[in-house]
Amino acid sequence: MKIDKNVEDDGVIFMSIKGEEGKDNSVKKDCGDTEKLSSKKSDANPESGDNVTILAIESSCDETAAAVVRNGREVLSNIISSQIALHTIYGGVVPEIASRKHVEKMNGCIRAALSEAGLELKDIDAVAVTYGPGLVGALLVGVSEAKAISFATGKPLIGVHHIEGHISANFIENKDLEPPFVCLVVSGGHSHLVVVKDYGEYEIIGQTRDDAAGEAFDKVARAIGLGYPGGPKIDKAAKEGNPEAFTFPQAKIGDAEYDFSFSGLKSSVLNYINQAKMQGEELDQADVAASFQKAVVEVLVGHAIKACKEYGYDKLAIAGGVASNSGLRELMEKECAANNIRFYRPSPVLCTDNAAMIGAAAYFEYIKGVRFGLDMNAVPNLPLGDRERRYHGRG
Ligand code: KG4
Ligand code: ZN
Repeated sequence: MKIDKNVEDDGVIFMSIKGEEGKDNSVKKDCGDTEKLSSKKSDANPESGDNVTILAIESSCDETAAAVVRNGREVLSNIISSQIALHTIYGGVVPEIASRKHVEKMNGCIRAALSEAGLELKDIDAVAVTYGPGLVGALLVGVSEAKAISFATGKPLIGVHHIEGHISANFIENKDLEPPFVCLVVSGGHSHLVVVKDYGEYEIIGQTRDDAAGEAFDKVARAIGLGYPGGPKIDKAAKEGNPEAFTFPQAKIGDAEYDFSFSGLKSSVLNYINQAKMQGEELDQADVAASFQKAVVEVLVGHAIKACKEYGYDKLAIAGGVASNSGLRELMEKECAANNIRFYRPSPVLCTDNAAMIGAAAYFEYIKGVRFGLDMNAVPNLPLGDRERRYHGRG
């Protein structure tokens, strides 16, 4: 997988992701030649799911992203405009800044995604967009853009649940992956353990009672002075530290064995930091990072493996920003191998927010006949798997 990066004048990082993990193939080579694609008429066959090309848009947090995805698994282009650097000075995402930058960057991302795919708007079969959950102002930028494209071109509109997008990122590089399987979804706002029963059909078997896993990473990183964004910084620092230096608590929830709780762990780290400060001890960032990461990762892996065994699934996938954590990937791989479970994980750049995953999720909705009307709205707290609400606005 090749990532072309360019830092723009305003600090936003423009990225174009090409190829697939483990393959040194360019997108164009992977997807047929450009000329053939440009002359492609809309010959999508929703019944068989053939030749369905979707333009996907994502803007739920601080990444403006656009991608063109064919048949749910083939990424023709994947553009991400990341604002992380702009929010770093504030120690977290500032919603108003995020929304404004989405407005500035959205058209450029879409233009780049179409151009890299060798397509024009007339060649796509549908436009898909994340409509929740996320920051309302940020979501609205993508939703308005997608509605405008749908209205102007007459192409169908498909709303996608952000977390379903994260789960669907697994379909891109794992062409053989089909439901049912268990998926651990761990992002900045969510920690869910779900059974993916079929495409677009989810049973939530566990979720966080308080902080999401990514939120805990971000808060602990801030407390030990690593700054924002916390997850990647803790991941990096943990590599230099001793995971056995401290024993931080791993919460068990008696009445719901698959639920998570990270606030006790976070408080315990904060208490340790305060105590060390009061006693004038020097804080070893790397040791705290490594011990904290170990505690989080062991709980995540433990719950996921247990769920596979008890529910009788031999396929386990991970998704969301925290799924790019190297400690989580390593331990999960080891435990899956030990328990005869096939382990699926997206490349790190497909774990964090992107639009390719939205295009993948949208395809499976498209072939089911799901269409949204122009009354689609951003739903900041959209629950996972809430079909009734999701189908509201179907046109
Ligand atoms: O999925 P995502 O990009 O956005 C949301 O939908 O929330 O996830 C962002 C979260 C942040 O909390 C970030 O700190 C965390 O994912 N994250 C990581 C890593 N990379 C991103 N956490 C642990 N280790 C990482 N390498
Ligand atoms: Zn996300």
